[in-house]
This record gives sequence, C-alpha cells and structure tokens, in this order.
Amino acid sequence: MTHLRSIQARYTTTATLLLMVILIAVGASTDLAIRYHVEDGLFRAAERVASQWSAAARHEQVPGMIPASAEIALVQLVASDGTILAASRQAPGGRPLSTSRPPADDRFQRLVEGGNMLMAIRVTPAADAPVVYAGSATPGILRGHRLEYLLALGILLLSVLAAWLVWAVVGRTLRPVAGIRARIAEITVSDLSLRVPVPPGEDEIAQLARTANQTLARLEGAVEQQRQFAATASHELRTPITGLRMQLEEALRYPGEVDPVRSMQGALSVTDRLEAIVNDLLALARLRAADPTPPEPIDLGELVSKETMHPPGTPVDVRTAPGVWVRGSQIQLIRVLGNLLSNAVRHAESRVTVYVESVDGQAVMAVADDGAGIAPADRERVFERFTRLEDGRFRDSGGSGLGLAISRDIARAHHGTLRIEDSPRGARFVLRLPLLEESPEYSRKATVRDGVARDVGAAKSSARRMRPRANAREGRTATGTG
Ligand SMILES: Nc1ncnc2c1ncn2[C@@H]1O[C@H](COP(=O)(O)OP(=O)(O)OP(=O)(O)O)[C@@H](O)[C@H]1O
Ligand SMILES: [Mg+2]
Repeated sequence: MTHLRSIQARYTTTATLLLMVILIAVGASTDLAIRYHVEDGLFRAAERVASQWSAAARHEQVPGMIPASAEIALVQLVASDGTILAASRQAPGGRPLSTSRPPADDRFQRLVEGGNMLMAIRVTPAADAPVVYAGSATPGILRGHRLEYLLALGILLLSVLAAWLVWAVVGRTLRPVAGIRARIAEITVSDLSLRVPVPPGEDEIAQLARTANQTLARLEGAVEQQRQFAATASHELRTPITGLRMQLEEALRYPGEVDPVRSMQGALSVTDRLEAIVNDLLALARLRAADPTPPEPIDLGELVSKETMHPPGTPVDVRTAPGVWVRGSQIQLIRVLGNLLSNAVRHAESRVTVYVESVDGQAVMAVADDGAGIAPADRERVFERFTRLEDGRFRDSGGSGLGLAISRDIARAHHGTLRIEDSPRGARFVLRLPLLEESPEYSRKATVRDGVARDVGAAKSSARRMRPRANAREGRTATGTG
C-alpha cells in the first residue's frame, strides 16, 4: 500500500488498469466479431451446398457418392427412417450426421452437433421427405475457448508492455525530483548557500528547480541582511549601555565624590538615546512589514509650512507652491521632513531651505543646507542603516544613523524616491512622490473639513512627539561636546 503512494506506482497502476479495461472491451468485441464471421461464412457455404443437393434430390439426381469440396466436406442425404441414401466420401458411412430433422414449416436449420457445424434442409414439406445435411467439422479456432484464451494472452502481454513503458517513462521524468528533495533536506537556515540540481530542458520540474534556486538566493540575501542588521544593532546598543553601566558603577563606588543628580541626569540622557534607537528600529521593522496605513490626500506645501520646526540659531526658509497634493500617511511624511530638517540644521553653515513644488507630474520636496555637503561616493551609503559619516559623528554624537534609512523606506512605501541631488553648496535631499492629479477645490474643502482638520491634530501630536527628540539631541550635543 505504501508503494502506491509513489507517483510512479500510482501512474503505472492507473494507466495499466485503464488500458486493460479498454483492451478487454476491444477483445470481447473482436471475439464476437470473429466468431460471427467464421460461423456465418461456414453456414452460408453449407447452405449453398445443401440447397444444391436438396434440389438435386427433388429431381432424384443425387449420385451415391456425393462430390464435396474441402470446405464443406460432409454431405449426406438421409431418408426419413434414418437410412443414408447418399454421402460424400468424408461423411461417415453407417451413421447419419444428425438425427434432428427440420420441421415441415421451417425446412432450413443450422445445427452444431458432435463437433460439426451443419446446415440441414428438408427436401420437401412432405412427411417422409429426406433431409440433406451439409457442413464441416467445427474450425479449430471456434472449438472450446481457444479464441478467448488467445485474446486474453494478447491483452495480458500488451498490458505488461504498457505498464513497463509507463513505469520507465514516469521514473525517468521523476528522477530529478529525488535529487531536488535530497538537496532541500540538506538546506538549513544556517547554510542557505546550497542550490538544488536543475535538470536540463524547460519542463515543469526544471522550472520548479530554477524557481526554488531563485527563492533560495533571495532567502540567503535576506537572512544575511538580517544577520548584519542584528549585529550592527546590538553593536550600536552596546555602546550606550556600556556608558550607562559605567556611570551607575561610578556613582555606587564613589558616593562621596560623584554628584548623584548629575549621574542620574547622565543616565537619563543615555536612556533617551537608547529609547530613540529602539523606537527607530521598531519604526523600521514596521515599515518593512508594510504596515498599511490608509492613504489620505495631503497638501504637501501646507504640511511642510505647518510642520517645519524653527530651531533657534539656524534660520529655515520655507518656499512652497500651492496645490501640490500627494496621497499618503501624514505621520510618516512628517517623520521624513523631521529627519531631513534635523540633519540639515545640524550640518548647515548659516541657513536651511525647504522647497515644495510639482515638477514633471511629480510632487517634489527638497531640503537643502549650506553646509559641507556629502561627497558623491557617500550619497548612497548614508541611506544604509547605522551609517554616520565622520563629520556626522562629530556634529551629533547622539544620532543613530537610522533616520535616512527610515526616510527612504517611507518614500518607497509611498511609491516615491528619496535621493541626494547636486547643489551648488551643501547637501540637497530630494523626496519625489507621485502627484495626486485631481486636487479640485471640492476635494480640498472636503479634506480640510473632514480629514486634515482631524489628521492635523494627529500630525501635531506626532510632531510634538518628534520635537522633544530633536531638542533632546540638541541638549545632548551640548552636554556631549561641553
Ligand atoms: N544635510 C547633511 N549634510 C551632511 N551630512 C549629512 C546630512 N544629512 C545626513 N548626513 C550624514 O548622513 C548620516 C546619516 O544620517 P541619518 O539621518 O541616517 O542618521 P543620524 O542623523 O546620524 O541619526 P538619526 O537620524 O538616526 O538620529 C549622518 O550621520 C551624517 O553623517
Ligand atoms: Mg538624522
């Protein structure tokens, strides 16, 4: 039974059984057709001969020795009392071929008797009319069940041949599957470098193997990425934890020398930093899991005007064009703006400018500063998680290097891009999003009334949540450098 679980055995059994049913049906009809054909042919020939001698008997022209052909070798003219009046050479002399006499109203009769097939014709309807028998011994093929045995043997041989063929073909087709299965069994999360063997050709199994290998390659990449991420994340978290531990140990060991309030303040600021990193990691994980925030129409210019922070020291210019509508999540876009602005303010020499406009059917938000800028070689690298350039580290020891990674993920989730573009001075971060084509007055009013009015509240509170972080960072920078 377990054997039947294999596809090879199942297909072979099914195909063979199906073929056998067809062959048996064909065999049975062939058997009937052959029997009918041979019998009918023989009886017709016998009838012709019998009719001929019956006519001759009516005119009393039957010779004592009836001449007979090889096909219809047995001919007898038998009187009503059983006396043999005439016979062919091969018909037995003393005994009539049959004792049955056709009745007067049905003068022609087909008889199968004593191993012979005979046509009996009553010469006339008269009571004492003689009977002509003509026929031959039953042909070998019709004797007993010889024909059926022969056909059954044929069916059996054909079925065995078909079974062997199906078994061989299916086995050949499935052979690569065993190899693929064995290889997949070897693959573990700790080693995704193995690939399944790809059979030659373009059949389904080859395609399956190819797809499996592509999936494995993607999995390997993803696992490797996760591993690196976990390594960098733990490394990034270890530094503030070590700092925290040192501060606390110091306070415990030298209670007289260390001001406990200062220690606690220091510990709190490190905790702030830890919290910021963990929050960013969480945000990244959520974005990667494509947390579906229902998109809403957003007036990008309005959002930027409202949400741009104006820190003391560096002036921030906001230049927005009206009616630049996009569809997306306010909270996430505010987060991008906050990230770009806090970076720009940190690196700017004297001022930061934020532009919002629509260019070539796209909504564009650019944040530019007049600082040192970012070298072309680093322009992709800064979007990787935990990347901080040397200059960045010096300017803000509190940054975790996750801000731009998060911002780019948000841009992607909005079907847009976030890139650093050329500018005469400093760095210019450009966010491009699909422009919402229909921004009619109606939808504008409706959204202001029903959506934005409510959502601005949410955005405000989220901005509030973000601002202390930026401020805390400013504070930390002061304590860090001072
Ligand atoms: N406007 C800019 N000018 C120059 N360098 C920049 C600018 N913006 C970002 N960078 C560089 O890119 C790095 C990565 O920025 P990102 O915002 O990802 O991290 P961060 O600001 O250091 O930390 P986080 O934003 O996670 O608190 C920064 O550390 C800095 O070196
Ligand atoms: Mg940042």
